[in-house]
Parts: sequence; structure tokens; C-alpha cells
Amino acid sequence: MAQPLVAGAHADAAGRAGPAASGSGADLVLERVTKDFGGVAAVDDLSLTVPAGSFFALLGPSGCGKTTTLRMVAGLERPTAGRILIGGEDVTATRAHQRPVNTVFQSYALFPHLTVLENVAFGLRRRRDADPAGRARQALELVELPHLADRRPSQLSGGQQQRVALARAVVNNPAVLLLDEPLGALDLKLRRQMQVELKRIQTEVGLTFVHVTHDQEEAMTMADTVAVMNAGRIEQLGSPAELYEMPRTAFVANFLGQSNLLRGTVVEAGDVVLGVDVGGVRVRVPVERAVSTSGEVLVGVRPEKLHLLRPGEPVPDDCNVVGPGRVTDVSFSGVSTQYQVLVPGLGTLGVFVQNLLGGAAVALGDEVSLACAVRHTFALDGAQDVASGVVDLDGEPA
Ligand SMILES: Nc1ncnc2c1ncn2[C@@H]1O[C@H](COP(=O)(O)OP(=O)(O)OP(=O)(O)O)[C@@H](O)[C@H]1O
Ligand SMILES: [Mg+2]
Repeated sequence: MAQPLVAGAHADAAGRAGPAASGSGADLVLERVTKDFGGVAAVDDLSLTVPAGSFFALLGPSGCGKTTTLRMVAGLERPTAGRILIGGEDVTATRAHQRPVNTVFQSYALFPHLTVLENVAFGLRRRRDADPAGRARQALELVELPHLADRRPSQLSGGQQQRVALARAVVNNPAVLLLDEPLGALDLKLRRQMQVELKRIQTEVGLTFVHVTHDQEEAMTMADTVAVMNAGRIEQLGSPAELYEMPRTAFVANFLGQSNLLRGTVVEAGDVVLGVDVGGVRVRVPVERAVSTSGEVLVGVRPEKLHLLRPGEPVPDDCNVVGPGRVTDVSFSGVSTQYQVLVPGLGTLGVFVQNLLGGAAVALGDEVSLACAVRHTFALDGAQDVASGVVDLDGEPA
């Protein structure tokens, strides 16, 4: 037959000669892995552990080294340094087709001349499985496409092709399933639907999933653990809620959701609360939410945690207050309204207000102050660019 596509060729042998037991997923460990391309480190001394059976997301901007990392796990790229272990076995020198790993790429790489069922059964047949058609049918049921078994890939929608590609990978029962932006070609609505589907399938089959994406919402909705990558390194690793509520760097604070970051200096280092001077205003930050507890810091607050206060409105208890400033932009988005408020000496802060009452309570040009509960404030090391990791609305670096 024609030159097999990488995903297909790779899928065929997965599990056949793999060193680790497949079926229930296996731990994936990267130990100090580096990949140099002509003197430039695409992946730079990266270490991480993906526990068996978990849904792990590698999240980062274009060019940060996500695909290179996956390709090294798949055996399609050799690390310059470091080790890769699957289920406790060192596979660093193991060839791609001998690793218990399957990959689903953004381009689905289905065989156009085979039916959906034959695409899914292809690897099983090559391995002389006892019941390729039966198992392929089961996999199609998992992705809810058994009724399209006799169609050709060209007769399917993008989302349906994506599910076939997934069924074809899952049917091999790999110890680790690698997904490289598998939903990238789908429109937003289908993408959101497939995210829920993928999560359901992962829970049902219990395989270890490593999902690569530059879409922060996608990573947060699906993954148990997210590793935020920047320039070949991991900036922070944790549950979606941990990363969102307690970012450790400006890059994570800006790349994962949005943040207001204000430059300040610690002027009072208490045991429980820090006092920080921000443009002449004293704000308080819990010590347990501070990466740095002395010198220059960036004080952070998420836009939905800020409240707008009109002149004379009482300040709620245990809040930091800045302003007054002027509303320079109001944008209504249905569930919430987003305000930009220019505070002299501090810059422009973003505020999200849930639309509970109907109609915007505050208008363009109004004078407002901004309040935020002390317990929602965080502090980062001051020696960082406040705009690090900021993305525009298309998810591209600003
Ligand atoms: N074969 C190669 N030769 C030289 N440089 C490469 C090669 N493959 C990747 N790179 C470089 O390594 C860096 C990381 O690339 P990689 O494809 O891993 O990024 P990515 O995070 O997957 O980005 P994207 O979100 O755009 O897919 C980039 O700067 C890229 O140009
Ligand atoms: Mg990539």
C-alpha cells in the first residue's frame, strides 16, 4: 500500500512489543529532557510525571515546545539529553513502533480508501487480532458512531473524522495516548462538544491521556492536571483551579485567564498579611498567596474578583481599594459586562461583572473605585514583565 501515515503506522504496532503493560494506562515520566535543534533548546531540561489513568494537558503558546515533547514521548524524535519512562521502563532508546503509545494528530490521517470500520480495525488486522471487526465496532460505539461504520472518511464531517481517529487510537489499548491539538480544525461549538466527549471517553477507558493545546479553556475543562509551558520549560503544574487561583508567575497569571498585575513594594512584612505600597496606596496580600514576601512585587487580582464602587459607596469588609478612576470601556457579553477602568498612577484595570440585575449599572466615563477581598489578592516576584503571557482574543500572543 501507499506510504502509511505516521499516525497509522505508529498505531499499528502499538502495544505489540511495548515494554509496559497496556490497557489501564501507565505512568509517564520525563526526566530532565532536553531537545536541541541546531543549538536552540526547543525543550529545555523538562521534568514531569503523568500519573497512570490521568488526563494531563500540556498548555502553552505557539513554539513553546509542546509538539516536540510529544514527539519525544512517541519516539519520533530523540532527546538530546534526559530519559523517558513509561510504566517504569526506560524507553528513551526504544523505537517508535515498539512503544506502548498512540498519537492522534490535528490532521486526522485516516485512510481515504478504507471504510470507517476498516480504518479502526486496520491496526488490529495487522497484528492478527482474533476479532478485529468486533473490537472496531466496540470502539465506534465508544465514540458514538456505529451507524457510520460503512462510510468513507470523505463522507464524514470534521468532528466525525476526529472521532474515528480517536477510535482508531483507543482500539489499540495504548498505555499512553498522545493528543496533539486534536480539536484544532473544528469550529468552536463542535470543539466544546468534543472536549466533553473526549473527557467522557478518557474516564470510560481509563487510559493515560496527554493532551497538547494552546487553548487555555480547553486545557482547564478537560485535564486533571495542567502543565503550563513557556519557551521549552514548565512554568507551573497543577490542577486547573490551583493554576487559576494561585498563579506563581506573571506568564501563568496572564496566559491562563486574565489578571490585573500592579507593581508594588512590600512595606510591611507581617506573618499572615503583607502590606504592599502600590502607587501610593496600601494594599494587603495574604502571605500564603505571595511568591515573594519582600522588595518589589507584582500584586495580582483576577477581573471577576474586583467590585466597582461608586463615589460614596461603602467599602466592604476586608477589602483592598484602589481608585477612583474612570470607566474607559464597557463591553456587554451576555452573562457578564467587562469594564476597563483607568486609575491614575496605576494604569488600566479590567473588571468582569456578572449581569444579575439587567442593564449596566455603571456607564462609560463614570467615576468608580475598585474593591477586592484581601483573600483574593496574590503577589508575584517583581522582576517580571507585567505583560508576560498576555494573549489577545484569538489566543495569539499580544
Ligand atoms: N525539526 C525541527 N528543526 C528545527 N527546529 C524545530 C524543529 N521542530 C521544531 N522546531 C522548533 O522548536 C520550537 C518548538 O516547536 P514545537 O513544534 O514543539 O512547538 P509547539 O509548542 O508545538 O507550537 P505550536 O503550538 O505552534 O504547534 C519552535 O521554535 C520550532 O521552530
Ligand atoms: Mg505543535
